[in-house]
Amino acid sequence: MAEFVRAIAASDLAPGQCVEVKVGATPVAIYNVDGTFYATSNVCLHRGGPLGQGLLEGHAVMCPWHAWSWDVKTGENVANGDLKIPTYEVKVEGGEVFVKVA
Ligand code: FES
Repeated sequence: MAEFVRAIAASDLAPGQCVEVKVGATPVAIYNVDGTFYATSNVCLHRGGPLGQGLLEGHAVMCPWHAWSWDVKTGENVANGDLKIPTYEVKVEGGEVFVKVA
């Protein structure tokens, strides 16, 4: 069964920023949207671009490779809701961000 795993210190990711990390063997992107943390797969469905290196605007991240945008709350592609990347549960405890990769 999946468990929450510590990923980053909350203070290491400012609002409006994102970062790529490995949670176990899974590449994950973590986002700080106005103080609330979200996590998705780090892998863009288009060609595998690293979403944690993308540009976060509001709660959408733009892939750094070819500019596809994804809603980090739902995992849906902003232009085509039929396309979806995995999202992961996040919790913040004691100033640390934990992610549960199912
Ligand atoms: S790999 Fe993400 S838009 Fe092409």
